Amino acid sequence: MSHQLKVGLIGVAGIARRHFPGWKESPHTELVALGDINPEILKVRGEEQGITQLYENPEDLINNPEIDIVDICTPNRLHTPLVIAALEAGKHVLCEKPLAATPEEIEQMIAARDKSGKMLMTAQHFRFSGEAEALKAEIDTGVLGEIYHARSWMLRRSWAPVTPGFLKKELSGGGPCIDIGVHILDLTLWMMGHPKPVSVSGVTQKKLAQQQGSFSSWFGTLPKEWDVEEFASAFIRFENGATLILEVSWLLHHNTTGEDMQMWLYGDKGGSVWPNNEILTNNNNTQQHLNTQLVRKHDVEAHARECMEFAEAIVTGMPSPVPAEESLDVIRILDGLYRSAETGKEVRLDS
Ligand SMILES: NC(=O)c1ccc[n+]([C@@H]2O[C@H](COP(=O)([O-])OP(=O)(O)OC[C@H]3O[C@@H](n4cnc5c(N)ncnc54)[C@H](O)[C@@H]3O)[C@@H](O)[C@H]2O)c1
Repeated sequence: MSHQLKVGLIGVAGIARRHFPGWKESPHTELVALGDINPEILKVRGEEQGITQLYENPEDLINNPEIDIVDICTPNRLHTPLVIAALEAGKHVLCEKPLAATPEEIEQMIAARDKSGKMLMTAQHFRFSGEAEALKAEIDTGVLGEIYHARSWMLRRSWAPVTPGFLKKELSGGGPCIDIGVHILDLTLWMMGHPKPVSVSGVTQKKLAQQQGSFSSWFGTLPKEWDVEEFASAFIRFENGATLILEVSWLLHHNTTGEDMQMWLYGDKGGSVWPNNEILTNNNNTQQHLNTQLVRKHDVEAHARECMEFAEAIVTGMPSPVPAEESLDVIRILDGLYRSAETGKEVRLDS
């Protein structure tokens, strides 16, 4: 097999900029084509990246027989049709998070992936940071024992996006749950070893967004046209008896500049805290606490590394580094959270 995989990237504005270095750095890939419905940004990125194959119609990029990998960086609601079209065209697909906002759409993607025999990966870049890789490797040695509880949050203080692609449910699929909840939930489930979720009890809130003068430190005055939540909390049970408390928000009177993202895991042999990357254990013989600081695995930027690992997995015949089944569990939990918030009742995920 040739080790030169040709990449076409669709949706070149925001997060795409973080993908370019990985495709350049990987020994297996060459970025050859860009696609975007916005001709201005397409031209700018083409010049920046030295790429001349520019497509205003993403279907033309997908149907280019020269391309092996399609990288999808469009707004959420376009992920499903583009992922399925690319798989049906026989391409490997890396797609930005959330893979999709509903479980049904991810199931359709899995069916298309299985039919095509190609690789599908969700761009959950936090897994690929040097800190996360070090913590995962340590946890996989069994240092925490049986993980029976986790607390995870991604909380922003006045740090909401302002574009309809995020604030309109028909475009985004949801608020901070779908935007940033997928990050911390994916990371937590991965560290816990993907226990099967069986129920979720959740609440969503919108309190600050509509207040007079409400603002985002990121973009200024907040628009009033919101139909997604600004905050959510949830209690999740797993088949193995473990539990997780999840909190996400774009707007919260929380003591942080910008964003506070943390994951605490508690096992019967030890605990851990991320991103500080400490392992917390007891020596019962000496009745002492032991806090061990982990050394990060590498210094490669996480988005770049996710692209490189994706290509590496294709070339070496390894499984997808972030399989769609794992994203399906993330979205089943968040979908259950929304349904629980609507009904005020716990929602079963195993029936
Ligand atoms: N992993 C992360 O940390 C991270 C950060 C930001 C965004 N994201 C995800 O990346 C995706 C894109 O977000 P963004 O902030 O880069 O958005 P963006 O609006 O900055 O860029 C999206 C681009 O897609 C283009 N586009 C829209 N419809 C299209 C279509 N039908 N065909 C081709 N191109 C089209 C737009 O013109 C735009 O250039 C979202 O799914 C978002 O959740 C991930």
